[in-house]
Amino acid sequence: MNLYDRIPNNVNLSEDKRLQRALEKWLPNYLDWWHDMGPDGFQGKDVWLRTAIDVGSEGWAHFDYVKMPDYRWGIFLEPAQPDAKVGFGDNYGAPAYQEVPGEFRNSLRRIIVTQGDTEPASVEQQRQLGHTCPSLYDMRNLFQVNVEEGRHLWAMVYLLHGYFGRDGRDEADALLERRSGNPDKPRILEAFNQPCDDWLNFFSFTMFTDRDGKYQLSALAESGFEPLARTCKFMLTEEAHHMFVGDTGLSRVVRRTAQLMKQSPNEDVRESGGIPLDIIQRYINFWFSYSLDLFGGEISSNSADFFAAGLKGRFKEQEQYTDHVASEGSFTMTVVEDGRLVPREVPLRNALNEVLRGEYVKDCEKGLARWNRALADEGVSDRLFLPNIRFHRHVGEYAGHSFDVEGNLISEEDFEKRKSRWLPSIEDREYVRSLMRPVTDPGKIANWIAPPAAGIKGKPFEFEYVRL
Ligand SMILES: [Fe+2]
Ligand SMILES: [Fe+2]
Repeated sequence: MNLYDRIPNNVNLSEDKRLQRALEKWLPNYLDWWHDMGPDGFQGKDVWLRTAIDVGSEGWAHFDYVKMPDYRWGIFLEPAQPDAKVGFGDNYGAPAYQEVPGEFRNSLRRIIVTQGDTEPASVEQQRQLGHTCPSLYDMRNLFQVNVEEGRHLWAMVYLLHGYFGRDGRDEADALLERRSGNPDKPRILEAFNQPCDDWLNFFSFTMFTDRDGKYQLSALAESGFEPLARTCKFMLTEEAHHMFVGDTGLSRVVRRTAQLMKQSPNEDVRESGGIPLDIIQRYINFWFSYSLDLFGGEISSNSADFFAAGLKGRFKEQEQYTDHVASEGSFTMTVVEDGRLVPREVPLRNALNEVLRGEYVKDCEKGLARWNRALADEGVSDRLFLPNIRFHRHVGEYAGHSFDVEGNLISEEDFEKRKSRWLPSIEDREYVRSLMRPVTDPGKIANWIAPPAAGIKGKPFEFEYVRL
């Protein structure tokens, strides 16, 4: 097999023998990892997947039946911009970095490793879900997300191998050694160590946690380190589908719940095998709060340093802002002081995690509005909501304090007493799991979820998306 067939790419890999050797050495380890930790039980099946074969705006995605281990994980960057400049920070307007600037080497490597670690982690979290899919359509979407997260790992490993030499190669190896949820060698970020073992978890994860990915990648797509910016821009095109899976998945669950509520005399959907709205709300609370943690501390010297260095910008830095230096403004946030919530003004650059988190929250709210429209459509008056950003946090200003879902400071004791109302209990999880029985006949769907409005790429819902 020639090099391009083994590693499709638009980075001139055949010209760069050193990089080629590094990647070819890593490839078998990656495939071992995929076999051990990728989707369990379906590796030999034909799945109707899209594969990136080119970055051109038309037809970058090729659809066909593929066995997952034969998926062509490639390396694709958006085309280079001639005369690219550093778009923000202290070096605003200087030529973009084509190599890693020595003084930012450790920061950049940390950023890339942290992003890279999330990609295989999510594949590990989701590896058993194929066994309980609600339809072939959903199974296919799960596997599409999984192979693309694998490709995202490739994207980050390309940067580590291509730009960081020996320590980059060591980090690339370590990305295959950590394991989601493993107490001895866990993944770096906590949301990626949480079990994702039922489909309500999966849809919540792709809605809320993949959406964090969108915002991190968008901030890195602004980077003055051009190879990183170009890599992230292309990853964002794939990320859009992951969020679509989560958003529409939850929407379909909510719609089905509403339909079952209307059918049962006392609106109790447990009798008819649906997922009650209060359980859905608790899953939202759980994944939203863990995903908020991924943005880092509210007040952060790292965020200031990364911005100053031109490494990590704001969401839509070029489109949304005119002042790209941001050395003067301030930002007022709410912090806990002497047991009370008080406003504190911080320099804008130190508040950039919070600024990015705010963009993310706005985006999540749109999802909630769509699901609430589904409830209204079906004639149900209950509504879902996002908990306050202070609720159930493990990172930053609010970690170590207890809040209710409205964001009021409460005692730890009070939180413990009321938490089963706010977060999924063992009984909730067991109930959801009890509904997770596989439905694999083409065109059939589990009782707890509504069918999608349309199939994939013009195919009907009844299409045989996975040949079992
Ligand atoms: Fe990803
Ligand atoms: Fe993703």
